[in-house]
Amino acid sequence: MTDRKLLERAAAAMANAYAPYSRFSVGAALECNDGSVFTGCNVENCALGCTMCAESVVVGNAVSQGHTDFARLAVYTNGSNYCFPCGECRQILAEFAPELEILIGRGDGRYVSYKLTELMPNPFSGEQME
Ligand code: THU
Repeated sequence: MTDRKLLERAAAAMANAYAPYSRFSVGAALECNDGSVFTGCNVENCALGCTMCAESVVVGNAVSQGHTDFARLAVYTNGSNYCFPCGECRQILAEFAPELEILIGRGDGRYVSYKLTELMPNPFSGEQME
């Protein structure tokens, strides 16, 4: 799948965002190495700390359907700024794919691309508990 198509999947998922408190809708699309694609959006809660980011939702969707072999993530918001994954989501992504490629798209159609290692060098990993 092309970068643009994956970003389109993230944009489509953004339409389902439940964000009445921040009014900041985010969509995510996660492509696995077997070609399967999962999507997610942010899900807010009136107890604001219970809010789930789009990236965390998409990881839950993929893992709960038996997919942990992540290849590429697209994150999309339709504003004028890029939505970089928050620190907690970077850690959640690093659990499964520290080398993940992350595309971040915004409303004018532009996007940037990073490796998770650039955004989250030296994540906490299970190996550190050995
Ligand atoms: N949000 C995400 O979905 N992903 C991020 O990486 C950053 C923030 C959501 C959480 C909340 O619903 C809204 O954006 C504002 O923080």
